Amino acid sequence: MKFSSLVGLTITGVLAAVLVGWFGFYNVSAKDKHWEITNKVMEFVRERSIEVRTDDIVVPKNLTDKKMITKGAKNYDAMCAQCHLSPVKQPTELSQGLYPEPPVFHENIHASHDPKSMFWIIKNGIKLTGMPAWGDFHTEQQMWQMVAFLNS
Ligand code: HEC
Repeated sequence: MKFSSLVGLTITGVLAAVLVGWFGFYNVSAKDKHWEITNKVMEFVRERSIEVRTDDIVVPKNLTDKKMITKGAKNYDAMCAQCHLSPVKQPTELSQGLYPEPPVFHENIHASHDPKSMFWIIKNGIKLTGMPAWGDFHTEQQMWQMVAFLNS
């Protein structure tokens, strides 16, 4: 393909994208679900993004320690259960209104991460999903306690 055709194609692509945005064709409503292919691409990008950032994280040896789990459970109940639920927390307006839906850990629905990734996600959050970043307000110890609880 000639260089000029490539430039022409790129400009057409960018223009088309700007027009789609300008005319409001893309529906940002949380009730308008993604196509399956969009889900797959986003999942791939999310997983790779997390994987390349968790290499240096060292998992503490005491994740199965009862004290760790109990302390994590208290924080989980206070900060996470309204979205991720628990055996005593029924679905909330928040948990049902969010898209993507928050994983329900005690039923193992949509939850798929190992302790390193869980720690990273809790610390940094996940853009455009409703999962907050907790790292600026909690110590690493507190975040590992929550990982210990989820892991249990
Ligand atoms: C406002 C709702 C909300 C709150 C509060 C919340 N989360 Fe999340 N969380 C989400 C959503 C939504 C996702 C799914 C993100 C996605 O699909 O990429 C998620 C994903 C996660 C994941 C990844 C799960 C997996 O294996 O795929 C972990 C771990 C997690 N949250 C832990 C926590 C912890 C611990 C807390 C409390 C400190 C918390 N979350 C509070 C909404 C929330």
